[in-house]
Amino acid sequence: MLIDWKLQVSFDKKLLEMMQHAADQCLIQEKVSVPCSISVCLCDDSAIQSINLEFRQNNHATDVLSFPTVIYPEGKTAGQSENLLRREYDDETGTCFLGDLFISVPHIIKQAAEYGHSEARESVYLLVHGICHLMGYDHMKPEEKEIMRKMEEKVISSMSAGISASSPVSDEQLLNYAKEAMRKSYSPYSGFPVGAALLTSTGKIYTGCNIENASFGLSNCAERTAVFKAVSEGEKQFEAIAITANAKAWPCGACRQVMNEFSPHMRVLVSWDKYVEEKNLDELLPENFGPDSMKK
Ligand code: THU
Repeated sequence: MLIDWKLQVSFDKKLLEMMQHAADQCLIQEKVSVPCSISVCLCDDSAIQSINLEFRQNNHATDVLSFPTVIYPEGKTAGQSENLLRREYDDETGTCFLGDLFISVPHIIKQAAEYGHSEARESVYLLVHGICHLMGYDHMKPEEKEIMRKMEEKVISSMSAGISASSPVSDEQLLNYAKEAMRKSYSPYSGFPVGAALLTSTGKIYTGCNIENASFGLSNCAERTAVFKAVSEGEKQFEAIAITANAKAWPCGACRQVMNEFSPHMRVLVSWDKYVEEKNLDELLPENFGPDSMKK
């Protein structure tokens, strides 16, 4: 996706890269093969309020405004309208222009704090939401809303490189990521959902849940799901892992051993109900056997 950025307020370069990645994923997940472009203006609240008033007759600041240029047939979105998109193709840019987005940076900051997640996550979410509108999705009717939400979730979960926090992530935020991951747990046999959020030394967060199997022994713990996701993306140094369950659940022996392979001193936080406890991994796995143990 070609993005024509209009930065009316300063914005972290790393976040812009992540938003670019999210925009690319929107087209991939929507299965649009025509090159597309959008314009994205990152502005302050007063700017978004005047645009909202001028074009929507709403005199208040909001988080994101979308102005699609392509009018899709009823019930159709970009992926099902390739011929229509091709008609919008502009030789000069070599793309089909989908429309304009305005995103309020003060709203990103405020909403990230309210939801207890990173500004990176909020920026990505607002951009994906806006692009979905530009691709023909809407949320006026409940059935449309459900389809739009599914698409947004699909894009966000496809961002395999992990969501990186622009500023150091707080323990509370990391625990919130773990809680969110816990909702994805597949645990029909134990009925014990677990969520984990792993913070790497590059500032990225990889989440994981426990995934059980009818052949019980093949179940995978939340911690190892998160660690394997991170390592398979090239991340091998971990700062901390937050784990959450409905009871106090320190990582099992297998997970301790797997984490010890990469970061024996990392912080381990467990939370349940309203409680949080913390230990370092070397306290949980003393006298451990690790990569150096076979050296003579
Ligand atoms: N479980 C975890 O996800 N992490 C742990 O460290 C302990 C156990 C999961 C595995 C299984 O799905 C369920 O909890 C009950 O053992």
